[in-house]
Amino acid sequence: MPTYSSVITGTGHHLPKRVIANSYFEDKLDTSDEWIITRTGIKQRYFADHEETTSTLGIEAAKKAISDSGVALSDIDLILVATSTPDLTFPSVATQIQAGLGIEKGCAFDIQAVCAGFVFAVANANALIKAGEATKALVIGTETFSRILDQKDRSTCILFGDGAGAIVLEKTEVVDDGKQAGILATDLNSNGRYRELLYVDGGVSSTQTTGYLRMQGREVFRHAVNKLVSSSERVMNKANLDTIDWAVPHQANFRIIQQTSQRLNLDKDKVILTLDKLGNTSAASIPISLSITNQEGKFKPGDIILSHAIGGGFCWGSFVFRWQ
Ligand code: UT7
Repeated sequence: MPTYSSVITGTGHHLPKRVIANSYFEDKLDTSDEWIITRTGIKQRYFADHEETTSTLGIEAAKKAISDSGVALSDIDLILVATSTPDLTFPSVATQIQAGLGIEKGCAFDIQAVCAGFVFAVANANALIKAGEATKALVIGTETFSRILDQKDRSTCILFGDGAGAIVLEKTEVVDDGKQAGILATDLNSNGRYRELLYVDGGVSSTQTTGYLRMQGREVFRHAVNKLVSSSERVMNKANLDTIDWAVPHQANFRIIQQTSQRLNLDKDKVILTLDKLGNTSAASIPISLSITNQEGKFKPGDIILSHAIGGGFCWGSFVFRWQ
């Protein structure tokens, strides 16, 4: 009996038009370009204009990923969207993107695991493909975090940006040659005990407002490094790997990435950094970074790539895959 896995065959990303440099905040708040760069590594981010929404950014990223993969739109039978900033309470962003692409078959739904959302979406798409429920999936991370930022809170509003990234995941037969391209292992975790360290203070059922993001940054930082390291070690063990060619981590803070990479003994030249130009785009940060790195031609066939992320909840996890 053949067994199946899924392989990434295309990537794409799309960013809003409006670039927001650190100086934008210097004019409004008691902060500085120097503080933001030294403490976070962020130099600029993108904020969506009124006509740009989570679904419109996602549609553009999806189109580019589909074109990169060469898959026919009519063959896509699963759309998973990781987001915490949907256009509407319902229907899902995934069904809005499905309609925007003119797809009418298969299923489409959203996954909400905040900044870890894309990791959760990849693991779920891979599991559905392995179970025989889908053959060609679009997995998208798309966010407009600028809409939930308290622009008077200097400890959070300087961190986040908007954008969308997408991949195409295709069913592939597992060959037992030690060089299997595709998703090799996934690791997902949540612990709601930490929900008050990073949350949004509004919502449909509680306040009937959208609310603003609230975070105890220093505490989140401490948990982030430990949890990203342990998840990455678990996923590498599951895949029987002891080295990787590239790490494409969630982009929250340069110092988190640096400390995590050091603990995992990763060479800094192997760690992809995009947050200087993008800020933290939450669930979109990994797929945008994958797409940018792919466009730059850095990934070579057979390369082993590790991605990990942590976000509100907490939810955290990782996946490791071989580039085809
Ligand atoms: O993607 C989801 C997960 N999110 C994260 O992983 C974010 C994790 N946390 C972080 O990245 C960092 O904790 C921050 C960048 C949010 C903050 O950096 P920090 O080095 O942990 O700073 P801190 O919170 O300990 O604050 C140090 C000082 C404080 O002043 P006092 O109390 O020492 O006088 C803050 O009030 O820096 C102050 N501060 C600022 N100063 C200038 C906080 N924000 C700013 C600011 N500009 N924007």
